[in-house]
Amino acid sequence: MSAWTVDIQRAADALQAELGAAPPTAVVLGSGLSHLADDVEEPREISFSKVPGLVAPGVEGHAGRFVAGTLEGAPVVLQAGRYHCYEGHPMELVAAPVRILARWGVTTFVFTNAAGGIDPHLQPGDVALIEDHINLMFRSPLVGPVRPGEERFPDMSAPYDPELAARAEAVAARLGIPLPRTVYAAVLGPSYETAAEVRMLQRVGAGVVGMSTVPEVLVARALGRRCAGFSMVTNRATGLSDEPIGHDDVIRVGREAGARLAEILMGLLAEDGAGGRDGAARQSTGAK
Ligand code: HPA
Repeated sequence: MSAWTVDIQRAADALQAELGAAPPTAVVLGSGLSHLADDVEEPREISFSKVPGLVAPGVEGHAGRFVAGTLEGAPVVLQAGRYHCYEGHPMELVAAPVRILARWGVTTFVFTNAAGGIDPHLQPGDVALIEDHINLMFRSPLVGPVRPGEERFPDMSAPYDPELAARAEAVAARLGIPLPRTVYAAVLGPSYETAAEVRMLQRVGAGVVGMSTVPEVLVARALGRRCAGFSMVTNRATGLSDEPIGHDDVIRVGREAGARLAEILMGLLAEDGAGGRDGAARQSTGAK
């Protein structure tokens, strides 16, 4: 395997120098949610290009930055912009932000993404809670030599923290926002699926399909960090509606779903801000 190219410690030191002490929670903002980075109070930020080992990501409208501060009184760092495999980035870079944030001191990761709805109950604009995933990228950032602090064979029986998921459901119920549970299928992309592929995904039990998140979750779990995942449903998956999938629609509907998801995230963080429940409850399956 190739040697590591990102010096995680150096990168984490850069975050420490620019942003100060790590908050317990990081939120990775998918398409449709990046505006949340502008709502952070007392923000301190560092762009990806200033973090040794990272490069500017090549995705629409995403500058690529970490913004630390508070939201609803809770200390948090938001990651706006992420690397995707379909851009040609090696898995190591796709997962590097998680490794860097974890080394800096983040213990809980909230991953958000845009996804196509396969479950017939999911409509464009809906938000869904990821309770499990299927890795159809057929690659993993854990392949190769084991990184310090990571498990060689991390358990994946509950990659998404059940307690965090239950709290998210309670917040959503209080806000009157439907938040069905779903299984996220991760594909490589960048082409959207064929109708036959979507029929296959339906049969294997996927509720949504997207091109991100799973590599990041794999690394977070190998490090024993807590994870939550949310999908913003931007379209019906191929073949399930008469409409072809257009990237512009994905972005537009992502913003609508993003507004709902932002409410849920703010509700979750407000509990943290009031009660201070950080990532102490790491799952027992994690490293260290
Ligand atoms: N498929 C894969 N990724 C996606 C989709 C989709 O339909 N919508 C948004 N991201």
